[in-house]
Amino acid sequence: MREVYADHAATTFPRHPQVPEAMSSFLLDIGCSPGRGGYRRSLDASRLVYDSRALMAEFFKVPQPEQVVFTPSVTYSLNLLIKGLLQQGDHVIISSMEHNSVVRPLTRLVRERAVTLDVVQCNTDGTLDPLQVKNAINNQTKLVVLTHASNVTGTFLPVHEVGEILKGKDIFYAIDVAQTAGSESLGFGAMNCDYLAFTGHKGLLGPPGIGGLCISERAAEATESLVEGGTGSRSEDENQPGFLPDKFESGTLNVPGIAGLAAGVKLVNELGLETLQKHKRELTAALLLGLAEMPEIEVYGTKNPHTTAATVSINVKGMDNGDLSFMLEQGFGIMTRSGLHCSPLAHRTIGTFPQGTLRFSLGWTNTSSDVEHILSALSEIIREN
Ligand SMILES: Cc1ncc(COP(=O)(O)O)c(C=O)c1O
Repeated sequence: MREVYADHAATTFPRHPQVPEAMSSFLLDIGCSPGRGGYRRSLDASRLVYDSRALMAEFFKVPQPEQVVFTPSVTYSLNLLIKGLLQQGDHVIISSMEHNSVVRPLTRLVRERAVTLDVVQCNTDGTLDPLQVKNAINNQTKLVVLTHASNVTGTFLPVHEVGEILKGKDIFYAIDVAQTAGSESLGFGAMNCDYLAFTGHKGLLGPPGIGGLCISERAAEATESLVEGGTGSRSEDENQPGFLPDKFESGTLNVPGIAGLAAGVKLVNELGLETLQKHKRELTAALLLGLAEMPEIEVYGTKNPHTTAATVSINVKGMDNGDLSFMLEQGFGIMTRSGLHCSPLAHRTIGTFPQGTLRFSLGWTNTSSDVEHILSALSEIIREN
């Protein structure tokens, strides 16, 4: 049976061979620890890590490569900045479209550090009026966290406008670009943020297990490390080094993951961000157009490919979205994700809690024929059920 992978918001698939090749090339040809020895293989590993850091800095337009900290995932990056920055009684603002990787660490800090949390309400299509953030600011506000695009509806949040609102204020600003890195042009400085949290295995086309955090100098100073240990630097000191990136990178790095991430980002650069964005927008537009002709289907989000990532959430009237996802795969080889997508808050916002939605998320390997296949599969399922 033909296979159509439509779950790129979860992870990229299939991967380009140059990603696993870069990973195995590190393991087979270099294989040693970076920053831990003066011999050639260790120096080669250090060079690979440095070059990859520089590549990420260039990609996100971060002034210094050291301001890119490698982590296992965007989840880890968000935990690092949330738990490392917030102290007793601090106030935080988030949107009502955030992922559990923001909501859960904050819920813990509300309980354990008396942090106060304001969840600014997005509209039912996932959009947010930036003035809502402005109005929620108070004297205790230490941090604003926003996702760039919802992983449920794809809706873009006004991250640039909020950056303008926060300019010159003594408030730290974090953006989760899990769903937009590799499709949208992201300038660290242009967004006026202190933290940009990314993951390697989605639009950046890399492997799982590697992500990162771009961090401003003032945030690096204000943020405590989450994990302390060996860094290969200042080994005589029992305290964690205070400089970047070592402050936040303890233990042997995931160098195969870093090599795979660099290969993924090089591929994004080769394919061209604009080309990738255009391709995904065209596919999303075609999917939305076809869905609009099926009255049995409710589509969530802005229904506009220019104000959303390539993610479309739906429900078919009278049908469980888990059953629908099963039927799409069993009958038509179409892989989707149903349910709450680790974002119950977003589903409450769009009115689909607790049943959730069926999510199609398209990527660079999808074609217009995949979209036609999805639309005809949906028509057939609706006709027969
Ligand atoms: C908006 C958003 N934030 C965070 C995450 C967590 O990503 P990871 O599992 O790579 O840490 C995801 C992944 O689904 C996401 O879509």
